[in-house]
Amino acid sequence: MPQHILGIESSCDETAAAVVADGERVLSSVVASQMSTHGKYGGVVPELASREHLRAIVPVTREALDRAHIPLTQLDAIAATVGPGLVGSLLVGLTYAKSLSLATGVPLIAVNHIEGHIHAVVMEARQAGRPIDYPALALVVSGGHTHLFAVEEGFRYRLLGKTRDDAAGEAFDKVAKLLGFGYPGGPIIDRLAPHGNPRAVRFTLAKMKGNALDFSFSGIKTAVLRWTESHDLSAEIETRRALLRSNSTPATGDWLAVTPRATLDLLASFQQTVITELLTRASAAAETFGARTLIISGGVACNTGLRRAAAEYHLPYPVLFPSPGISTDNAAMIAAAAFPKLTRRDFADFAVKAQANLTLAPEPVTK
Ligand code: KG4
Ligand code: ZN
Repeated sequence: MPQHILGIESSCDETAAAVVADGERVLSSVVASQMSTHGKYGGVVPELASREHLRAIVPVTREALDRAHIPLTQLDAIAATVGPGLVGSLLVGLTYAKSLSLATGVPLIAVNHIEGHIHAVVMEARQAGRPIDYPALALVVSGGHTHLFAVEEGFRYRLLGKTRDDAAGEAFDKVAKLLGFGYPGGPIIDRLAPHGNPRAVRFTLAKMKGNALDFSFSGIKTAVLRWTESHDLSAEIETRRALLRSNSTPATGDWLAVTPRATLDLLASFQQTVITELLTRASAAAETFGARTLIISGGVACNTGLRRAAAEYHLPYPVLFPSPGISTDNAAMIAAAAFPKLTRRDFADFAVKAQANLTLAPEPVTK
């Protein structure tokens, strides 16, 4: 008998529910994005996010169950993200999952959001009939995280490095905001970068004292700010802001019409530096650790430049990305991450709390 898990995800600005069978077959996956709510503020507004989750959680979950043709009572588990994330947002999904579990007697499983991103890749590898070769190295790179984990067989994790300041996605979002592009910035920069010269502006890569596998993105963000100030971009930035006010989702051509060559070069160079920073540290970590697979997941894993560069590195082990649809936040990855816990009967009780700063593995010991 296949085992069905309902996953619920509400850690940031996406309300999502999905039903996954045996940790690999996605019977339904529904994501309600709050992009239109937060876009005009240039970032996620936590209070608005909680309110939007409250509005969406019941219809989104109902739709996931309907599409999967599974009544609640026939589920084997209900899995919800418990952290890390915005606590007010997490609370909505988790409380709803608890109440469904209480009403039906279906057990509850608590899932770490970062583990969910890793399982997006694990799930697709199983679907393709090519299970992952362990130990693996996982680079989780999103709006909230830039973390490198060693992943051993049985999903035991060790944190090898992480960002000391901004997450990579956060850097994309801040640079886009600074230059008058919309939110989230990653997808826009991704679309515009191929129109610029990635070698036009020289940014230096962060040098890390202590743990060489840590990342830092605040330096490049500041360098972009300095470049912007010294080139007086105020008129073009204002033009882009006006474009956004008249059209909340401009097409690539619309952006190109209001973005001079020099700014396109800046975007391309910024993206190239972030990609190099990510791949240099990830490949160094993989080598040190003897990884047999490199997993790259999280919203920034959608980046086409990153995917292309990873292929061009010709690394001696497979580099696995989730398909773009499940790179960003979704609930199928949460249901998939819950599957090994269901097998171990690792259930949560109703006292489990939403935790903004939940970790997946302890901090690395730095010399
Ligand atoms: O995983 P995710 O949906 O949410 C978090 O857990 O944070 O990631 C969202 C982040 C945002 O910062 C967004 O700008 C970035 O992922 N992102 C991208 C791309 N698509 C989304 N960054 C670079 N290139 C992309 N194509
Ligand atoms: Zn995420």
